[in-house]
Amino acid sequence: MTAIRFENVTKQYANAARPAVDSVSCDVDEGSFVVLLGPSGCGKTTLLKMVNRLYEPTSGTIYLGQQDIREMDATTLRRQIGYVIQQIGLFPHMTVAQNVGIVPDLLNWEPERIRQRVDELLALVDLPPDEYRDRYPSQMSGGQRQRVGVARALAGDPDVILMDEPFGAIDAITRTGLQDELIKLQRKLKKTILFVTHDVEEALRLADKIIILKDGRIVQYDTPFNILSHPANQFVYDLVGADDIIRQLGLVRVDLAMKPLPADFVQNGRPTIARDDNLRRALSMLLNSNAPALTVTENDRPVGLLTLSNIQAYQ
Ligand SMILES: Nc1ncnc2c1ncn2[C@@H]1O[C@H](COP(=O)(O)OP(=O)(O)OP(=O)(O)O)[C@@H](O)[C@H]1O
Ligand SMILES: [Mg+2]
Repeated sequence: MTAIRFENVTKQYANAARPAVDSVSCDVDEGSFVVLLGPSGCGKTTLLKMVNRLYEPTSGTIYLGQQDIREMDATTLRRQIGYVIQQIGLFPHMTVAQNVGIVPDLLNWEPERIRQRVDELLALVDLPPDEYRDRYPSQMSGGQRQRVGVARALAGDPDVILMDEPFGAIDAITRTGLQDELIKLQRKLKKTILFVTHDVEEALRLADKIIILKDGRIVQYDTPFNILSHPANQFVYDLVGADDIIRQLGLVRVDLAMKPLPADFVQNGRPTIARDDNLRRALSMLLNSNAPALTVTENDRPVGLLTLSNIQAYQ
């Protein structure tokens, strides 16, 4: 099922020489994690903001599920879509609990239900509610505030979440931790996430599929694996560093290259690797163990097999 459909969407700002978004057509599948990637000014934020109607397209149509979003009330639409903006955008005069509870409050939930929901979400993003619910944003680290931003976006239980460089201002180590949490969260909650970044490594780590934008147009829309192995043109090749094989292998998740378990699967003491691990580690395990294949696991249960030729197929 399609969660978001862009049909020939163009945004021309007044006085601009060319459109910020130019005839964009693509589908975002329900439950998928799609990353919008491209250099500064290529139109990522503009495209995202048209989904919750903070901007209106000059021409073209956006559908949420089956519905043309122009036919929906903008406020209702925004309450159905979680939104995390760069620099988080928490209200400084409100506590963590009040910030997270904004949308449920707007939806007129009972106070007790809001309280429960807030605690549940804080726990989900790894902020113990007893410790954090009554704090103010200024009393937290940048990474913690970012998590509050994610909890707030989840609060109304939206099916679709838009995230605009949510981890932009965070140091590299904290950022990797937040990325891991977000992947786990998405797998658990099965939300559709449209995530903007200009950080190639972040895109490759997080995405099921990446939309590469240049000058407002889609240059390539594919899995990280296919983008690295078959960049559409020189621009994509240079952008993702397609010439550095080892670096790329370190960025691609094992599950993107694995094959399904055969019907006659037996574990037979084969080395195992988690599906979230990367191909660089898989390669070194294969080379060091001399095993013909690795068993790929999820929560310690076998879900696939990975051979050297599966890895090579991608180069
Ligand atoms: N409100 C606006 N009015 C006029 N022009 C705008 C407006 N917002 C953005 N633009 C222009 O539209 C183009 C795309 O901007 P946009 O913010 O979508 O880029 P971006 O890909 O999100 O960039 P960044 O990575 O720097 O955030 C840019 O040339 C920008 O100057
Ligand atoms: Mg932007």
